[in-house]
Amino acid sequence: MKRLIKNGTIVTAQKTYKADILIDGEKIAWIGVDLPSEDCEVIDATNLLVLPGGVDPHVHLELPMFSTVSSDDHYTGGKAAAFGGTTTMIDFVSLEKGSLEDNIVRHRAMADPKTSIDYSAHMNITRFDDAVESQLKDLPGFGITSVKVFTAYNGRLRLDDGNIFKVMRIGGKAGLLTMVHAENGDIIDLLVSEALSAEHKEPIWHARTRPAWGEVEASLRAFAIGAQADSPVYLVHMNVAEEVDQLAYARSKGLPAMGETCPQYLFFTEDDLKRPDGAKWICSPPLRKAQDQQGLLNGLENGTIQVLSTDHCPFFYDGTKSILYEGEPVRIPGKELGMGDFTKIPNGLPGLGDRLVVFWNHAVSGGMMTPNQFVELTSTNPAKIFGLYPQKGCVEVGSDADLALWDPKREVTYGVAQAQHRTDYNLYEGWKLRGYPVQVLLRGKTIVRNGEWFGSAGQGRFLYRKTGEIL
Ligand code: URP
Ligand code: ZN
Ligand code: ZN
Repeated sequence: MKRLIKNGTIVTAQKTYKADILIDGEKIAWIGVDLPSEDCEVIDATNLLVLPGGVDPHVHLELPMFSTVSSDDHYTGGKAAAFGGTTTMIDFVSLEKGSLEDNIVRHRAMADPKTSIDYSAHMNITRFDDAVESQLKDLPGFGITSVKVFTAYNGRLRLDDGNIFKVMRIGGKAGLLTMVHAENGDIIDLLVSEALSAEHKEPIWHARTRPAWGEVEASLRAFAIGAQADSPVYLVHMNVAEEVDQLAYARSKGLPAMGETCPQYLFFTEDDLKRPDGAKWICSPPLRKAQDQQGLLNGLENGTIQVLSTDHCPFFYDGTKSILYEGEPVRIPGKELGMGDFTKIPNGLPGLGDRLVVFWNHAVSGGMMTPNQFVELTSTNPAKIFGLYPQKGCVEVGSDADLALWDPKREVTYGVAQAQHRTDYNLYEGWKLRGYPVQVLLRGKTIVRNGEWFGSAGQGRFLYRKTGEIL
């Protein structure tokens, strides 16, 4: 049966207007005023906004780290995303043994049967040899049009500048977007070893050993390498005000440079690492200072930064104790692995389900942004940049009916119970939020309604992406 969303107010990146939405199967079939409701199941959206489902282009699900794994998989992560209004996520294929294709096949064998929302993946390029060199151009054939390289994590994930240049040169010709994790790996390694020798083991030393200026110079280096390789560059998890300056500079020179930041960098600072439970806030790159928060918010507001993602990479705070997940006890080793040594604390924190609700509360309910800007940063721009638009990221005839029915007046005291991540803590515990999704549709099917889950493992699909847009 067709479904009709009646009396809602549609919010897109461009405009806000009252109209009904007819859904036929998985797609939006028509948008118009006072559409007839015969033979339709009617969803009443009076007093609600109708947003395109969120697109989160930076998540890590079941990512092995140290001696554990990030605690959300494609089922639990997708479910948490949906509760927060996000219906598409993009995670990363780790480059282990075998060809790029072998790694993609393994990743999909893990993720496809579990995923509860639609997903795609970027390819991590963490080694560069003849095989990788010849296989890179084939990635679009597997639906993967973006790669991630690292200027840090020496001896593990880092490529040297020459190899980053080669990745970008091939990628630029093949229609790939190169995402860069920009920190200075050499200086980090030196400072970490000095800190450990001096017995500085508390979580705050995670930030002190990863200086902000290392990111500033590495981000400019990334844009400059991209310019020499004729490649677009997307700077991930921006967290330093001066990184925003570098991005603005690159864009002012006409370079195809883009970037994202994440809510944790807007709402927390390195002071949170000094709390007794500071391990909860350990992520890489680290949280920074109040002036960085302001620089990032300005960058989002003025369009220098195109995307708000999450870098969702959750771990239990105390993985020795079980939580109940869907009625079953679950415990996964987490931050306690680094008790007494910050270098052993798994890097990453939860955020996939929080992104839209905490950002709406701050940016839209707080009067800093319009709902249209919110949609642009959290759905439309990531869909465009990562080659999913207009299937995802908009409310248009022919697009997937991925929709978040949003009550801008709904007030919620937020925390671990609402967030639905498979972990034992939430960064926003006790926050009073205004604005919340009350119903979420994935390709026409309601998967969340009034806090109830109607989804299942495997209902999501792998998304084959085309080359994205330069914004
Ligand atoms: O701490 C984080 N962000 N872990 C995930 C890895 C990364 O570099 O994004
Ligand atoms: Zn990274
Ligand atoms: Zn990440």
